[in-house]
Amino acid sequence: MLKVTDLSVNYGGIAAVKGLSLEVSPGEIVALVGANGAGKSSTLAAIGGVVTPSSGSVEWEGQPIQGRPPEWIARNGIAIVPEGRDIFATLTVRENLLVGATARKDRSTAAAATERVFERFPVLKRYAKSPAGKLSGGEQQQLAIARALLSEPRILLLDEPSLGLAPKMVDLVFEVVRELRQEGVGVLLVEQNALRAVATADRAYVLRRGELVHSGSHDELMAEGRLNDLYLS
Ligand SMILES: Nc1ncnc2c1ncn2[C@@H]1O[C@H](COP(=O)(O)OP(=O)(O)OP(=O)(O)O)[C@@H](O)[C@H]1O
Ligand SMILES: [Mg+2]
Repeated sequence: MLKVTDLSVNYGGIAAVKGLSLEVSPGEIVALVGANGAGKSSTLAAIGGVVTPSSGSVEWEGQPIQGRPPEWIARNGIAIVPEGRDIFATLTVRENLLVGATARKDRSTAAAATERVFERFPVLKRYAKSPAGKLSGGEQQQLAIARALLSEPRILLLDEPSLGLAPKMVDLVFEVVRELRQEGVGVLLVEQNALRAVATADRAYVLRRGELVHSGSHDELMAEGRLNDLYLS
C-alpha cells in the first residue's frame, strides 16, 4: 500500500535520511524507531509531501506520489499527525475537526464521522465549543488524531504521539492505534518510546543517523535485550 524505496532527505549539507526503504500494508501497524535526530520525522515529512526527497520514491497504492503537494496527499488517504500536534489553538475543538474534514473525499458523511470521533474521544465532545488551546496536552493529542481521522485516511502516520502524555493518555493513544488496525487502516508509528511502539506493532524499522540498521517482526524485536542491542551497538 505504502512503499518507500531508497529514500534520501537532505537539508543543505545535512543528510537526514540515507537510502531508506520501508513498506506499510493495510491494517498493519509498523513502528519506526530510533534516537533523537535519527531521521524519523524527516521520513514522515517526505512521505507527506512536506519536504522534497533528494532521491528515492514514495509509492501509494501503486502510484508514485513524490512531488505531490501535502493537500493532495491528505485528500488521497494519507494522514499525518505531526510532532507537536499542530492544532489551531484559537479555533474551537469542533472547528479544528472541520479542518480535518475538508480533506475528505466525501463531505456528505462528515457529520456522521464527527459523531464517531466524539464517541471515540468523549473529552472532545465535552469541549467541542472550547478553544483548542485550552485543552491539556493529552486532550490536544486526541484532537490531533481525531482531526487526522476525519480525513478518512487509509494510512495514519503518527509522529511521537505519546510524547509528554500521562500514562492513561498514552494507553488511550495505543488503544486507538490497535482499533485502527482492526478497521484495516495502516499505521506508521514513530516513537522514541521504542519498547512500547514495538510491543504494539506488527513489524518495526530501526533507524540510526538516517540509516536503516534493522527491520524485524514484533516477535523478533521483543526478544529480551534485542532493542537495547540495536540502540547501543
Ligand atoms: N528543517 C531542517 N533543517 C536542517 N536540518 C534539519 C531540519 N529538520 C531536521 N534536521 C536535521 O535532520 C536530522 C534528522 O532529524 P529528524 O527531525 O528527522 O529526526 P527525528 O528522528 O525525528 O528526531 P527526534 O526524535 O528528535 O524527533 C537531524 O540531524 C536534524 O538536526
Ligand atoms: Mg522527530
